[in-house]
Amino acid sequence: MTSLLEQLDALQAESLSEAEGISTPDALESFRLKYLGRKDGRLTVLLAALPGLSPEEKRDVGRRANALKNALEEAIRNRRQSLDDTRLTAALTRAPLDLTLPGDPLVRGGLHPLTRVQEEIVDIFVRLGFSVAEGPEVETDDNNFTALNHPPDHPARDAHDTFYLKDYKDADGRPLLLRTHTSPVQIRWMRSHRPPVYIVAPGRVFRHENVDATHSYVFHQVEGLAVDTDMSLGDLKGVLTLFAQRLFGGAGADVRTRFRPSFFPFVEPGLEMDISCTLCGQKGCRVCKGTGWVEMLGSGLVHPNVLRAAGYDAEKLSGWAFGIGVERVAMFKYGVDDMRLFYENDVRFLGAFA
Ligand code: DAH
Repeated sequence: MTSLLEQLDALQAESLSEAEGISTPDALESFRLKYLGRKDGRLTVLLAALPGLSPEEKRDVGRRANALKNALEEAIRNRRQSLDDTRLTAALTRAPLDLTLPGDPLVRGGLHPLTRVQEEIVDIFVRLGFSVAEGPEVETDDNNFTALNHPPDHPARDAHDTFYLKDYKDADGRPLLLRTHTSPVQIRWMRSHRPPVYIVAPGRVFRHENVDATHSYVFHQVEGLAVDTDMSLGDLKGVLTLFAQRLFGGAGADVRTRFRPSFFPFVEPGLEMDISCTLCGQKGCRVCKGTGWVEMLGSGLVHPNVLRAAGYDAEKLSGWAFGIGVERVAMFKYGVDDMRLFYENDVRFLGAFA
C-alpha cells in the first residue's frame, strides 16, 4: 500500500505549500475544511481506504496520517498567528501609538484666592453660630448712609467717593448708588428680622478711587453684626481675637490683637483691630512697616441711632459690628504686595493658590 503513503506525502507537500500563500482569515478557514474537514476533507477521504489494509499497513498509514494532521494543524496555527501579527502591525503603522509617551495632564481649576479667604472668614463666624446674610450691590442712600448715622450733608459721606446712579432714584428722590461698604446689610437685616442678630455679610463694594497697589474701585468686605441684650466691648474683643487666631494661627502660632480708637459714624466707640505681624514674628518687616502690627478691620459698638433707624429698641438692646477687608487679609495671608494681582487673573498667579 505504498501508494497511500505516497499519496499522503504528496498531500502534505501540496497542502503545506498552499498554506504559505493564505492571506485572510476566511481563506484559512476554507483551507482547514478543505484538508481536515470531517466529512469530505482530503485527509478524511484518503483515509476512507484504511479499513481494507493489513494491520502493519494500517499502523504505518495511521502514523503517517497523524503526522500530516499535526503538521496541518500547526501550519494553520502559525498562519493564524502571522495573519494576526500582520493585521496588528498594519493598524499600528496607520495610527502610530507610542505607549511610552506621558499622558496629557488634566488641568485642575481652583478657587480664586479672594473667594477662598472670604469663605475662610465666613466659616469661622458660621462655626461660632453666625448666619450668612446678603444684600444688593445697588443700594439706597438711606441703607448705605442715612440709617448708618450719616445724615445728609454729613462730611463723613465724602470719605466714601461714591458711585451714584444719577438716573435712578429711590423713594426719597435720592439717587441710587453702588454700596460703598457692606454695612447697609446690617440695616436690611435688622429691618426684616427680630433680635437677637448674629450675622456675617460677605460681598462686593465700590468706591470711586484710583487703582494702585493697595486700592481698587471694586473690592470685598465681610460685615459682621451682633445685636442682643447686654452686649459688651469685651464680647467684641474676645470674638474678634478668637477670629484672628483661627484665621492666622494655624498650629499653635501666637497671634495677638490690639484695639485702637477710631471713628465710624455707625459705631460708638469705634475701634480698629491690629494683629501681630505673623510674617516677621513682630521683629519688624516690610509688610508691617517695621511696627510689628498690621491693621485688620474696623469695628465698634453699634450706635443707638443705627438701632433706632432699623426699628430696634436702643434702650433694651446693644450690639457690636465689624467690617473686614478681604483683599487686605488675603494680601497679608499670602504675602502679596500688589492688590492688582488679584484682579488681573493671570493663571500663573492664580495657580499658586490652587
Ligand atoms: N464700613 C466700614 C468701611 O467700609 C468698615 C466698618 C467699620 C464696618 C466699623 C463696621 C464697623 O461694621 O463697625 O470703612
